[in-house]
Amino acid sequence: MRVILPMPGNEAMAGALSERLDAELGVLEWRRFPDSEAYVRIASEVRGKRVHIVCTLANPDPQMLTLVFAAAAARECGAESVHLVAPYLAYMRQDRRFNAGEALSATHFARLLSQNFDSLVTIDPHLHRISSLDALFSIPTHVGAAAPLLGEWIAQNVDAPLVIGPDQESEQWAAEVARSAGAPHVVASKLRIGDEQVRVELPDLRAWSGRRPVLTDDIVSSGRTMIEASRVLAARGMAKPYCLAIHAVFAPGAFDHLAELSERVVTTDTIAHPSNAISIVHTLARLIAS
Ligand code: R5P
Repeated sequence: MRVILPMPGNEAMAGALSERLDAELGVLEWRRFPDSEAYVRIASEVRGKRVHIVCTLANPDPQMLTLVFAAAAARECGAESVHLVAPYLAYMRQDRRFNAGEALSATHFARLLSQNFDSLVTIDPHLHRISSLDALFSIPTHVGAAAPLLGEWIAQNVDAPLVIGPDQESEQWAAEVARSAGAPHVVASKLRIGDEQVRVELPDLRAWSGRRPVLTDDIVSSGRTMIEASRVLAARGMAKPYCLAIHAVFAPGAFDHLAELSERVVTTDTIAHPSNAISIVHTLARLIAS
């Protein structure tokens, strides 16, 4: 027997998963004490059951302790096993020490999750210099790919698309998205000057002048990557781009800024956001059931 247990803010995704899997939807009671410490209670019967805690980690610092308490409480209540479903997995980008003394957040975060869960299901973690989550996690990990879904969306909604990856790292997603969309793709190069400053250089696009640019990336965070790429496209006289991303992290102000420069911003529902138009529920459900 499975119980799908939502952390606060993950009720819609957990509800969709429980329906898809025909599994019980559990209840977690949560609140903050006046001093801001967290109160957590598993309000469903989990004894002898596989518990899948759903928590997209878009805001990991305030979420983490509550998540660890929920996993511990589920075990104390007799759960057979406790699994994490994190459609968006945070802290994967600091996978290397760029300056002496920096914390290797990807490693430490993965260790913390491995200590508290029996397995992890996620969608397109940002793996750059590390090729597999297995290099970071000591528990089984199951990774779903959203690129085919983005490709399908493009095929159904955009005439004559040209898929553009805004930086070298996006090649892995852009190529797969383009293949699924039946469209050509190119990749730009990006120089990150600071957290909120990037320079994007596009290749020669004259051969594609009649096509609609579709910028495709895994994450939009500050939005600078897509914003700069959209500006460069405008300067080249191209049509306004569609901006497609898997994870709608969106720092404050980023979405509005990007929306002004693009035809439409489209994301998957790994993180709930008004731009969500592509559902990854089926992909997650398949991985949970496997
Ligand atoms: C970079 O490595 C990622 O693939 C994204 O391009 C990046 O995280 C986007 O960040 P931002 O929206 O802050 O430019």
